[in-house]
Amino acid sequence: MAYRYLTDRLIEKINLYISRYPVREQAIIPSLHEILYEYRDIPQEAVEELADYLNIPISHIEGIISFYDMFRHKKHGAKNHVRICRNLPCHLGKYKNLLELFIKLTGAEVGGVSPDKLWYIELVECIGSCSIAPAFLINDDLYDGSKIKSETDLKEILEKYI
Ligand code: FES
Repeated sequence: MAYRYLTDRLIEKINLYISRYPVREQAIIPSLHEILYEYRDIPQEAVEELADYLNIPISHIEGIISFYDMFRHKKHGAKNHVRICRNLPCHLGKYKNLLELFIKLTGAEVGGVSPDKLWYIELVECIGSCSIAPAFLINDDLYDGSKIKSETDLKEILEKYI
């Protein structure tokens, strides 16, 4: 099958997730995050291609999409997409403090766009970077949240995306 939606970048990422997990199914969620980042939603064709690539039934992937709110089908339209991991290692790493700082500095709520349309904040499941918990992504850039010690630290990062 020739892939239209699974770009080279996506295939590279998906291969990375396949290699990280013992069971192929475990690559589905991080792969869907990548698709979401790429297209700002989950195109049906991308789901079909992912199912083919992972050799997993489409219905299985659809089940995951319908279970998690974060895999919405509407585009948010903000310039920057912040994804903060909320799974256990990141929870222990106090992702909530980080989230509060994001909300304060951007004016966006979780699942919402900031008034200036620069920021969309989303809480996500593990992004495969537990060693730097609490981990977060701004667009495609991965950050170690433990290095954010103050409002100023985060402000400096956010300014790069304005
Ligand atoms: S649990 Fe947060 S990156 Fe894995």
